Amino acid sequence: MTTSLSVNLNKIALLRNARAGQIPSLADAARRVLDAGAAGITVHPRPDMRHIRPSDVYLLAQLLENEYPDRELNIEGNPAAGPNSEGYPGFMQLVIETRPAQATLVPDSEDQLTSDHGWDLPLQTGEIAAHIKVIRDSGTRVSLFMDARSLDAIEETARLGAQRIEIYTGPFAEAFEHDTECPEVLARETQAYVLAANAATELGVGINAGHDLNLDNLDTLVSAFEPLEVSIGHAFTADALVYGLRETVRRYIAILDHSVKAQASQ
Ligand code: PXP
Repeated sequence: MTTSLSVNLNKIALLRNARAGQIPSLADAARRVLDAGAAGITVHPRPDMRHIRPSDVYLLAQLLENEYPDRELNIEGNPAAGPNSEGYPGFMQLVIETRPAQATLVPDSEDQLTSDHGWDLPLQTGEIAAHIKVIRDSGTRVSLFMDARSLDAIEETARLGAQRIEIYTGPFAEAFEHDTECPEVLARETQAYVLAANAATELGVGINAGHDLNLDNLDTLVSAFEPLEVSIGHAFTADALVYGLRETVRRYIAILDHSVKAQASQ
């Protein structure tokens, strides 16, 4: 089994939104990364529509369904985000209407710069239980964005019927950056991810991982535990400015393949 790469297109949309018009084209970027071998596309349409807009979600859902039926669309967001006067239809409506392969539920508030923590379960169970059921019943896989901290919280994801969790890898990436000064922090972080991944796997919940992953830290993460999917956007887009989209996908996939082969030979 190899870890799948889902490319997050938020930052391509952010650049596009800096001007009127369609440059760079999101559809073109999606086709390029999928043609280069990415397993899927991730979008995180926020209610303020600062990057991905609802129209992008409908367009990408159509594009995948018509041209890449074997690839996955992953829509991230807070299910409590309802319709607003700017034209955002609400997260649940977007998911129900576009029927992506996966919806990743994230507890982000509207003014948050980026996702920086997972669901606090079981405290927030009441906020998401009904949404999980509706999304699952519509045929979309549910993933919950979770910190690697509390194993009780991971247990609750199974009770709630989530098919996957996406482990928030921000703290890992931060520890990786400071590995030379504080190697014990990286060891402790990595161990927390392994424990969380093992707990989820035992409960039958699949593991995804995401946030702040890049060409430098990805191998260490994937070698510690083998996620089913990583979703990568910010660093990926920065790399694409240097290498181009196709070559960037190739570089990320080469790391994912290499990490798996290294694990198999241990
Ligand atoms: N996972 C979630 C839930 C996110 O919100 C984001 C950012 O949109 C990512 C993963 C990707 O993080 P990054 O852009 O740092 O690769």
